Amino acid sequence: MARILITSAIPYINGIKHLGNLVGSQLPADLYARFMRARNHEVLFLCATDEHGTPAELAAAKAGKPVAEYCAEMWQVQKDLSDGFRLSFDKFGRSSSPQNHALTQHFAGRLADNGLIEEVTEKQVYSNTDGRFLPDRYIEGTCPNCGYERARGDQCENCTKQLDPTDLIEPRSAISGSTDLEVRETKHLYLKQRSLRQDLSDWIDTKTDWPILTTSIAKKWLNDGDGLQDRGITRDLDWGVPVKRGDEPWPGMEGKVFYVWFDAPIEYIACAKEWTDDAGRPDADWERWWRTDKGADDVRYVQFMGKDNVPFHTLSFPATIIGSGEPWKLVDYIKSFNYLNYDGGQFSTSQGRGVFMDQALSILPADYWRWWLLSHAPENSDSEFTWENFQSSVNKDLADVLGNFVSRVTKFARSKFGETVPQAGEFGPDETALIETLTTRIHAYEAHMEAMEIRKAAGELRAIWVAGNEYLQSTAPWTAFKTDPDRAAAIIRLSLNLIRLYSVLSAPFIPDAAARMLSAMNTLDTRWPDDVPAALTALPPGHEFSVPDVMFQKITDEQREDWQARFAGIRD
Ligand code: MF3
Ligand code: ZN
Repeated sequence: MARILITSAIPYINGIKHLGNLVGSQLPADLYARFMRARNHEVLFLCATDEHGTPAELAAAKAGKPVAEYCAEMWQVQKDLSDGFRLSFDKFGRSSSPQNHALTQHFAGRLADNGLIEEVTEKQVYSNTDGRFLPDRYIEGTCPNCGYERARGDQCENCTKQLDPTDLIEPRSAISGSTDLEVRETKHLYLKQRSLRQDLSDWIDTKTDWPILTTSIAKKWLNDGDGLQDRGITRDLDWGVPVKRGDEPWPGMEGKVFYVWFDAPIEYIACAKEWTDDAGRPDADWERWWRTDKGADDVRYVQFMGKDNVPFHTLSFPATIIGSGEPWKLVDYIKSFNYLNYDGGQFSTSQGRGVFMDQALSILPADYWRWWLLSHAPENSDSEFTWENFQSSVNKDLADVLGNFVSRVTKFARSKFGETVPQAGEFGPDETALIETLTTRIHAYEAHMEAMEIRKAAGELRAIWVAGNEYLQSTAPWTAFKTDPDRAAAIIRLSLNLIRLYSVLSAPFIPDAAARMLSAMNTLDTRWPDDVPAALTALPPGHEFSVPDVMFQKITDEQREDWQARFAGIRD
């Protein structure tokens, strides 16, 4: 039994996330967490809201609410939606928690003690029209690296380069559009990332098993000369973690806060403390996940995120951890994703384009979305959501293959043998062949899940469902029943057991359907099928079962067209 720490990139607080956000970190992280729990490993799965920074301030202002109140409300909204999608976080925390305040200030103090913080008087963009300093991402302009015209002052979302606002060509305020900007002097703290370059490079070199998408982005910013700049970690803002040096005030930094990208990843750690604090448990209980001097050296730590987050997780956050000189756990594996597009364009929060989590759940249950999103995860390249593809995957994979199997088997069984597992008949060559196929495929499924090859895992699971249908088709118990009822009984005994097995294997992808299959099979036995023949006799003759309601409703052409039209536009 291993111990696995799993984090998903923490979603920004401002606004409901779209399906592209969901499939880029939280959902695959959940898949992995559920799978690892099913394999009996000890899992700690953490996520939180990313609450600081200007986006939150502006969204609160737009909603006419104090920012703390806005964040508390939006946290609840996001929490309810993550429950709706069955995201099985052990804790869904908040980066604005007192735990994160304290830990962020602690890290800053340690970094300063280790000579890694520099105070820099710098010139910062001030917008006369907006009456405030403009944070990096609220200055827009042309990317000096790739020429993209809507690059933000913190990062170009086209080429992923981390930027400083003054790098931008033809800058303007993203709040008001004003070009009446001036540069004023202000003092900030810088993290001397450059002096950690060798440590970071050596560390990344040990990660030979990382996916190419992750390492190539990391190495690019590490080796590109200007990739690993010293980074400003404070801002002139009201909302955030006040700048302190551990518990001590930081002279000259009054009224400033840490930069959101400094405190957000620290929330991965603070979230674990929120989790134990909630339950009134001692610090040792979270430290055994995070402190290598307190038991975390045998933890495997896996992070999930979209590709735009990779530089922060391969360089900035590790720089904080390494620079602290304290024995915190560093990430072991980073699973990163490309983008999911929406019907010929991009999903966009700012433009309200695409399907958002609340909208998705308002039209169909979570499993439909989970299945489509995971089986089309943008792993090796960007992928695209279209309503046609969604309709056909749901109808074929879920309704025709899995749902149909469950319904045919249970209904036929009830009509011929009553609502108990039939006893008669022996297993023969057909069953041996099926067991062999299943054994091979289950091993492949496990290997893909362990490797976080999500599309491949989905493909294998689908093939496992198909194998059951093919077995049923070729053994044709409805025909056999006429001449040899005992043979039909054996086929049905196996098939009912197969439903339980499908429930166990499918639960990481479609937890609600899996629970319904299990309850129809009237069992709590969720043991993983390490031994397939044994797994196929788990429900003994005489065991009662029931016929579940329709497992999956097919999506009609009419529904598809209706949704297509409804979600073609822009959400307000
Ligand atoms: N909020 C960021 C995003 O959605 C992710 C933050 S991840 C963390 O892109 F490392 F900062 F926690
Ligand atoms: Zn660019």
